[in-house]
Amino acid sequence: MTDQELIQFLSKMTIEEKVGELTALGGQFFMDEYIKTGPTVNLGIDPWVIEYAGVGCNLSKEMVIKVNKMRLEKGRSPILNCVDVIHGYKTSFPIPLALASSFNMSLIKKSVKCFTEEAYVNGVQVSFSPMLDLSVDPRWGRVMESFGEDTYLGRKYAECYVKSMQGNLKPPYIGSTVKHFLGYSLPLGGRDYEMSMISNRALFDIYLPPYNEGIKSGALMVMSGFNALDYVPISANKELLTNLLRKKIKFDGVVISDYNAIHELVNHRVAKDDKEAALLAFNAGIDVDLMSSCYPNNLISLYNEKKITMEEIDKKVFRVLEVKNKLGLFENPNQFLNYGEINTQNTLNTAYKMSVESITLLKNENDILPLKKNDKILFVGPFINEESFYSSWSLFVDKNMSTIWDILGKSKYSEYSLFETNNIFEKPLSLNETSELLDKAKNATKVVFLVGEKSYESGEAKSKTDISLNCNITSMIKKVHDVNEKIVSVVYGGRPLVLTDIVQESKAIVYALNPGTMGSKAVIRLLYGYENFSAKLSMSIPYSVGQIPVTYKALPTGRPKDKRIEENNYYSHYLDAPNEPLFKFGDGLSYSKFKYSNLVVDKDVFNDKDILNVSVDVKNVSKVKGKEVILLYFRDEVATITRAEKELIRFDKISLEPNETKTVSFKIKAKDLSFTNIEMKKLTEEGDFTFIVSNLSKTVIFKK
Ligand code: BGC
Repeated sequence: MTDQELIQFLSKMTIEEKVGELTALGGQFFMDEYIKTGPTVNLGIDPWVIEYAGVGCNLSKEMVIKVNKMRLEKGRSPILNCVDVIHGYKTSFPIPLALASSFNMSLIKKSVKCFTEEAYVNGVQVSFSPMLDLSVDPRWGRVMESFGEDTYLGRKYAECYVKSMQGNLKPPYIGSTVKHFLGYSLPLGGRDYEMSMISNRALFDIYLPPYNEGIKSGALMVMSGFNALDYVPISANKELLTNLLRKKIKFDGVVISDYNAIHELVNHRVAKDDKEAALLAFNAGIDVDLMSSCYPNNLISLYNEKKITMEEIDKKVFRVLEVKNKLGLFENPNQFLNYGEINTQNTLNTAYKMSVESITLLKNENDILPLKKNDKILFVGPFINEESFYSSWSLFVDKNMSTIWDILGKSKYSEYSLFETNNIFEKPLSLNETSELLDKAKNATKVVFLVGEKSYESGEAKSKTDISLNCNITSMIKKVHDVNEKIVSVVYGGRPLVLTDIVQESKAIVYALNPGTMGSKAVIRLLYGYENFSAKLSMSIPYSVGQIPVTYKALPTGRPKDKRIEENNYYSHYLDAPNEPLFKFGDGLSYSKFKYSNLVVDKDVFNDKDILNVSVDVKNVSKVKGKEVILLYFRDEVATITRAEKELIRFDKISLEPNETKTVSFKIKAKDLSFTNIEMKKLTEEGDFTFIVSNLSKTVIFKK
């Protein structure tokens, strides 16, 4: 439709139809031919609302067809079906925290394209993804959905995810929703849904840029957060949702609330009832109410009482109609029916490559890995027969995935035996089990432990205070260590887990953040060296929970350890732990060895108009072909506020044959070094800037 036709369409709508466009209901409401069902009663809405609701959530394709039939007969707009397609639809790709660890943006693009296509043919029109909440607290279970702890990585991830999901909005692309705007990821105590305390400076410089990038890349929708930020619940936060998002960032798509979040304003105690909650959210800037009864039950009376105007309602409705129009739904509401077959083999191959590039090698003492053909391996742990390497967001995923056992059985990698410990999370091994395990371990050349946390232990509402490995697992590893020191620990999970208890006992540590459908194959082929490791951590692994939040972006302190006067204890430290994480952002090894040299910045002094060229030579000094992630950091030597010791500014991933050298170059402008300064102005201050790659650094001067 043209804009004119859309305006015409809007002008003919009744107020019930308009309120329907601003109401998003879950799939359960559309069953049973719109009769008064359990969910309707629970939510406290009248059946008319279901008939009018213009946005659906998690509808199957059959439901989309059915609902559209009814809506189109009555001259209404087609339904907009939104689903959480977070890291896969039928095929599970690795979780987002793992996708980001690959630092391979073109592979992430391909992956997103594959699962977008799977979602599209199943009637999905918009995904509630990507989540762009920068995460530094692994107690918070939703870190699995995040790109991790770095703003620049988050910006690149946002750009490639949104562009790949939306493409040109023609089949098989779907709309993307960046969420949860803003500041959801630092809840007090790491407990989901609690208030976040983030300073304005950190909000603008650290948390906002990935959203800016997602919106600049064309995201059709923004989901607002459940949380309160600095004592103001987001659903009632006009400063953020209107002044920042609409006026400053100029976002003109749809803002949808999070699930039941408008009603939750009553629980936050900023609204006395649902009607007040609806008014607050409406005025703050929320267009669509997802799964609360506030808008459908109250907007009409708020209008009749002249608390809101038809012009305001129309603006919101028009945005929803525009999204439907951009997706071509008016012309062809069930367009997914005309789409051909999906190339499943291509999807599985891409998922496999993505898993390989998202699994991190954190330690490999004496090159215990790769496992050799003539090794006699004992595989031990609760993940030997595990099928669920996906996440709580894998609603429609094909759940019968290959396990480690299946993969080992398929091809002869080496002699191996298995020792499953399925109940280890609940109880320690019995005496008999322990002696059987130790016998087997003595007879093996190497022991591979498959441990960690199960996929259902991370995700929404999965906060933990203790993120160390289960103590039964730790004690089992320690016992085996007494009889066989050749231990490889493969750790699965949806968050950085504290591994301090097993780090000494493990000669090698492999970190496999829920690696998806092809995860088992990727793990085995990496362990045996048929594939090479190339991932680097997108989020630091703490030494202990007490350090959280701990990131690579350490800030200077007045009393740093390296300026400590001998015997003086008044410096920044813990009595019982180091200041640094156990493994930090950017850590990750390979079977190849890389040597960095020749860091060159092409100007000693640069100004606002210059484009700096920063280059470095990287050589593969091993006999193994491999991929290396090159991370370029910078430090602002002196500024009006205290700035991080180093901040990521660019990265690249390259492939190198044995003995091959490549020069990697990055273009940098002065504005890439900017920050919110003492006067709350975003700018780059004059002075020295140091660029850092690996163990090389070079300082240059910025002069306006
Ligand atoms: C989550 C959102 C999600 C929504 C719809 C909420 O509980 O916070 O991220 O998109 O549910 O499933």
